[in-house]
Amino acid sequence: MSQTRYVTTPIYYVNDRPHIGHAYTTIAADVLARWWRSQGDDVFFLTGTDEHGAKVAESAAAAGKTVTEFIAEHRVEFQRSYERLGIRYDKFIATTDPSHERQVVAFLEKLKRNDAIYEGEYRGLYCVGCEDFYTEKELIDGCCPVHGTAPEEIKERNFFFKLSSFLPDVERRIRNGEIQIEPKARRNETLALMKQGIPDFSISREKVTWGIPFPGDPKQTVYVWAEALQNYITALGALEPDRTQFETFWPHALHIIGKDILKFHAVWWPALLLAAGERPPQRIFAHGFFTVDGKKMSKSLGNVLNPNTMVETFGMDGTRYLLLTQFPFGGDGDVQRERFVEKYNADLANGIGNYASRVLAMVQKYSGSEVPTGDAGAAVMKKIGTAKVRFDEAMESLQFDGALKTIRELLAFGDSIVDTKKPWELAKNKNEQLSVVLVELLTLLTFVTYRIVPFMPETAEKIGAALGIDVSHEDKQWPLPPGRALQPLPPLFPRLT
Ligand code: MSP
Repeated sequence: MSQTRYVTTPIYYVNDRPHIGHAYTTIAADVLARWWRSQGDDVFFLTGTDEHGAKVAESAAAAGKTVTEFIAEHRVEFQRSYERLGIRYDKFIATTDPSHERQVVAFLEKLKRNDAIYEGEYRGLYCVGCEDFYTEKELIDGCCPVHGTAPEEIKERNFFFKLSSFLPDVERRIRNGEIQIEPKARRNETLALMKQGIPDFSISREKVTWGIPFPGDPKQTVYVWAEALQNYITALGALEPDRTQFETFWPHALHIIGKDILKFHAVWWPALLLAAGERPPQRIFAHGFFTVDGKKMSKSLGNVLNPNTMVETFGMDGTRYLLLTQFPFGGDGDVQRERFVEKYNADLANGIGNYASRVLAMVQKYSGSEVPTGDAGAAVMKKIGTAKVRFDEAMESLQFDGALKTIRELLAFGDSIVDTKKPWELAKNKNEQLSVVLVELLTLLTFVTYRIVPFMPETAEKIGAALGIDVSHEDKQWPLPPGRALQPLPPLFPRLT
């Protein structure tokens, strides 16, 4: 049964150059989008860039550029990097897009009408890196716990959002599962945070000029987080006259984020939506953070992984595969550069690459490149059936490495069939079993090809072309029609040294 799906990534601050942290979340969202599309679902995949706020303005000034010049250059870099990584989004939203700006104003006017905004004096410690306030208690040695820099003291007249009025409703919806927060530890973290109390927050800035003018008070701009979150609904035209896309996709929203921005997504965002009379997001999945070679990624340590360099070495598919198989999605983990080559050779060159070329070479040699007549045995069909159930479950819970593990196991099973049945001996003895064995090996390959589509789209295309199947849509008949002429397979994953 086909389903409607909406998946989003955070919109990344456009002051940074795309690094592997951004690529990590965006690849994960792309894998899901491709998976659902291959299953016939109606999918909308959104990503984009966060372009307003003090941080972006300061970075542009430091680079000696006008803000518009600066953001346009950086935005293109994100888009190019995504192209190299095979990210196929349905929409790329930039928060300087006039439609987003217009809708943000309409959203805030609605909050005003609904009495969810008041004016007040603000004094607080602000970290520009986070674009967020901290309390003294939250600082570590007087510095921001994320950026390690001293926050600035800010005092100004602001508009505030009455978060406190909506917290009980948000909490109720988290508890009854209307808003699903995953993994479970993040749900508990959110509930614990709410129990401690989260203060109302100011949604305007007096001194930041690079932003959307605040409705009714053009001397202030809209606080960057208060408008950035709205991208998830403005991209669908929630506050435009035609709301069709919003009405179709929004009830199915899944926000994939890093754990660093959980509070904004799991508490602020649902509250803002409720205040505007809209429903909160259905599901929020916060993944963990990774270190590189045991250390936090930082320019000074020289361990910032560049997605483009990774693609040069491992290809698009290799990069996608390596990033998602370092540690289970959801937890924290370490990305070990030293192990990339080893893993690439073991899982890709010797794994899927070798299996596909081996099977096709045997069909060419023993069956003139034609699919033989015969039925795969029950044991093989059962293995595929079990793998399918496990794979589907793993994908639904975003356990990408778990899904890929079922594929690795299936390939190992295929290899064991070759080793025990020895097709070359069956051919020598003119044994009728040969056709059955070849059909079994091909059936396994067809199933695996459909299932690697989300992770390794280029590889799936190549194997699909050799097998004569359209990988964009999984045809759940894995055995290929007898007599079909198979095509030669180009090399998939050359071994690296
Ligand atoms: N602009 C805000 C998000 C607004 S969403 C409405 C922002 N941008 S960011 O550029 O700082 O991106 C943060 C996101 O980048 C994280 O939530 C995570 O998805 C990703 N990551 C950045 N570094 C990462 C790691 N070292 N490890 C894993 N993910 C990382 O916050």
